Amino acid sequence: MIVGSLAAGFLTNSIPLNGRSAPSKYRTLRELGRAKGVSIGAATSAAQLYEDRSFADVLLSECDRIVPEWEMKWSAIYSVQGRVDLGGMDKICSFAKEKGLRVRGHPLIWHARLPVHIQAEIDAGRAKVLLKNHVSFVMSRYQDVIDSWDVVNEAILPSDGNSNGFRSSPWFSALGPSYIHNAFELAREFAPNARLVYNDYNVEYDGVKADAVLSLLKSLTSARIPIDAVGLQSHLWATRRRIEREKFIRFCGSIRDLGLEILVTELDVRENQFEYSTEHRDRVVSKVVEEYLKALLSVAVPKELCFWGLSDRYSWLSKPQYNPENPRGYVNRGLILDEKLARKEVWATVFSLLDKIK
Ligand code: G3I
Repeated sequence: MIVGSLAAGFLTNSIPLNGRSAPSKYRTLRELGRAKGVSIGAATSAAQLYEDRSFADVLLSECDRIVPEWEMKWSAIYSVQGRVDLGGMDKICSFAKEKGLRVRGHPLIWHARLPVHIQAEIDAGRAKVLLKNHVSFVMSRYQDVIDSWDVVNEAILPSDGNSNGFRSSPWFSALGPSYIHNAFELAREFAPNARLVYNDYNVEYDGVKADAVLSLLKSLTSARIPIDAVGLQSHLWATRRRIEREKFIRFCGSIRDLGLEILVTELDVRENQFEYSTEHRDRVVSKVVEEYLKALLSVAVPKELCFWGLSDRYSWLSKPQYNPENPRGYVNRGLILDEKLARKEVWATVFSLLDKIK
């Protein structure tokens, strides 16, 4: 149901409000987030920012932060042995500086997308040098625009069978858990004023993983390793899985009790009902995000709320290789704007939940 008059009153385009949101003095998530102390962000790419003007304009109205979906990964930077390619990151950070946006540094140290020649160097015993060189070089280069860094991404995977649930990543295999301590200590040295984040996924659904992440966080904080926040990637599932609400709330409370901030870093919804009507699909996505955000907001207000894309136009979940639920490559409608950049029901849900923050 489109509430025309209400929508016209304070939204730039009409969206199904279903009477859940009274008019607000704020017109965009960016304005509302700023008023509530929540920085609104979206993953994007240099191509989207420079080659899709309509998209970039809407992003500037809804977000005050951007995240490189690809350009800061080791596969992008070190794609050719002996060469360092930060052209994509430079373009993204130039755009951000010109437009007054903040940037998330994602990711610094990750197990995935390591070029073969980098893997060979790690295997040859140069992991510690590689890690230090990368952290120092990249953080120094962008310290004037990147204020929040995923220093270590996805270090926990209990199914790998290591003690304390560590993932058998190349870094872990070469250096043991100390690579995590090392990365955060170097990060504080080279970006002393930035928010240093441990980032991971599925803690909303998997209590075993959440417990292992919490164990890592307790070990880092008790060892006085410089860490400021935990990034909940929050790649949610439309119907295939349901968040373990009470466990998730306790998990967030434990993070808060460690004195760490909680960020939402990659929020989107993985659909699996592409044969249903758009209205039904959008309602399901909205309800999933509503349940998740209500659970989180019952414990903490995230200083950063980032979506893994702003518009369905560029969702990674529309690519069958990333979304086994979507073998035919339908547009996955798991983000706040549709592929035509129109606000969806989930936009109104996020807006009304943030608007209620005191
Ligand atoms: O390979 C080309 C490269 O040659 C080209 O220069 C570049 C230009 O943009 O594109 C590259 O294509 C793909 C890239 O996405 C850009 O679309 C890469 O092959 C592909 O591996 C890459 O996938 C990304 C994936 O991380 C791995 O980096 C997805 O888009 C991205 O959504 C996904 O994001 C991850 C987060 O970083 C961590 N959390 C989970 C999340 C989803 O998996």
